Amino acid sequence: MSLNLSLSIDAQSRETLAVQLRNAFRTQIEEGALRPGTRVPSSRQLAADLGVSRSVVVEAYEQLCAEGYLVSQHGSGTSVATAARTDLGSALTPDDRAPAAALCDLRTGGLHDSTFPRQDWIRAVSAVVTSAGRRELGYAPPSGLPVVRHTLAGYLGRVRGVRTRPEHLMITSGFAQGLALLCRELRDRGHDTLGVEDPGHPGEWEFIAEAGLRPVGIPVDGEGIRVDALAASGVRAALVTPASQFPTGATLSAQRRAHLVAWAEEVDGYVIEDDFDAALVAPAQRMPALQSLAPDRVIYAGSASKVLAPALRLGWLAIPPGLTARVERVRAGWDIGCSGLEQLAFARLIDTGAFDRHLRRLGADVQKRRQAVQQFVTRHLPDVTVLGRNGGLQAYLVLPARCAEEAMVQAARRRSVLIRGGRFYALRADDRPPALVLGYAGVRGPELGRGLAGIAAAYRETTGRGG
Ligand SMILES: Cc1ncc(COP(=O)(O)O)c(C=O)c1O
Repeated sequence: MSLNLSLSIDAQSRETLAVQLRNAFRTQIEEGALRPGTRVPSSRQLAADLGVSRSVVVEAYEQLCAEGYLVSQHGSGTSVATAARTDLGSALTPDDRAPAAALCDLRTGGLHDSTFPRQDWIRAVSAVVTSAGRRELGYAPPSGLPVVRHTLAGYLGRVRGVRTRPEHLMITSGFAQGLALLCRELRDRGHDTLGVEDPGHPGEWEFIAEAGLRPVGIPVDGEGIRVDALAASGVRAALVTPASQFPTGATLSAQRRAHLVAWAEEVDGYVIEDDFDAALVAPAQRMPALQSLAPDRVIYAGSASKVLAPALRLGWLAIPPGLTARVERVRAGWDIGCSGLEQLAFARLIDTGAFDRHLRRLGADVQKRRQAVQQFVTRHLPDVTVLGRNGGLQAYLVLPARCAEEAMVQAARRRSVLIRGGRFYALRADDRPPALVLGYAGVRGPELGRGLAGIAAAYRETTGRGG
C-alpha cells in the first residue's frame, strides 16, 4: 500500500498508542484530510511504518470501524467510511451521533430527545425569567446560587442520602467540569494516577489523561469495582459508579462499599462517586449514595445529562469540607460560574415536584426497555447473558466464547444497526469474554425492536444459531 499518512505517535504520552492512533485518524477524517472512500494502509503495513505492534493498529482500526469512521471489507481492505462523522460532541460523549444512513443507533449515549420534559422546563424557565430581578440577572457566585444549592442539598439528602450542606455543594458545567476540577486538585495534592473501573468509559480516560493524571484500570465483577485490586494498584484515588457500574450495570455491594471507604481512609485518599444515572436504577435495588458512608472521603458527583439533557451542562459536586475551599479556589480561576437562570429553572423543577414526577416516568420507561431487552435475549439469543439487570441505560451482553465480537459488530452494521463490542470499553487488553454493549435508551421503542431484530440476525449469521 503506497498511501503515506502523516501520523505521529508519542511513546512518552500518557495515552495508549492505540488511543493516540485512533485520535489521529479521527482528526484527519474530521478535518477532511482523509476523504471518504480513501483506503488506509493494512494494519501490518502501518504497524511497520510506525514501529509499533500490529495489535495496536488492529485495536485502533476496530474502534474506528465501531465508531463509523472506517469500514472494513473482506478482500478489499479498510477505507474511510462514506458517511464518516464530522463532529464528536463533548469529551464524555465521544461518539453518540449516528451516520446519516443509520437505521438504528444502539451505541451507548443517552436518552432519546422525546424524553425531555419540554413543558415542565418551559414553565420553569418562564417563571424564573418573569420574576428575575437584578440579582438573578447578575453574576452568580462561581460555586452556584445559594438558593439553588440549598434546594439541591435538600433534594440529594432526600433522594440519595447524601450528607452535605449547601456551602459544600458546587454547581458545575456538567460532570466533565467537576471531574476536571477534581483531577487538578488531586494533582496539586501529589497524585499522578487515578483508579478507574475497567471496563468503563473511554471518553473519561482521555479526559483524565488530558487533566494530567494517568488512569489505572481496576477490574470489576458482579459486585462492582474489585477493591482488592484497587488496593494492590498503588493508586490513592478512584473514580467509581457504585449505583450502576458503567457499562456492566453492576451495583457496588454493601460489603465492597465498606471496603472501599476503609481503603480510602487507609491510603488517606479519595473516592469520586459518579452518580449520574442512579435515579434510573430500579427502586428496589437502589442503595443510598456511597458518600453517605464517608462524607470526608467520598466526593459525590451528579449530572442532569442522563436524566434531563446534556445540553443543559448542569452538574454538581458535594465536596468534603476539608477540600471545599481548595476546589473553589481552582474554580474561581477557571470561570465565573454556570448560567444562573438555568440553575434557578432546575431548582424550580425540583421545588415544584416536576422533577420527581419526570424521574418516575422516565424510570418506568427505562425499566420497561430493560425488561424488553432481557426478554428478547432470553428468546432469541440463546447462550447470551445480560449483566446488571437493575440499572444503567445500557445492557452488557456477554456472548458465548465461540462468537467473535468484532464479527458481530460488523454483521449488525451491515444491517444498519450500530452497536459496540465490549472491547471498546476496556482499558487493559485481557481475555474477558466477547460482549456487546447495547444502549437502549437513545431510540424510540419501535426502533429498539428493529435494532434487536438486527442483532438477532447478526447473531445467527456469526454463530449459525438462534431463533
Ligand atoms: C459515566 C458518565 N458519567 C457522567 C456523565 C455525565 O457527564 P456530563 O455531566 O459532563 O454530561 C456521562 C455522560 O456521558 C457518563 O457517561
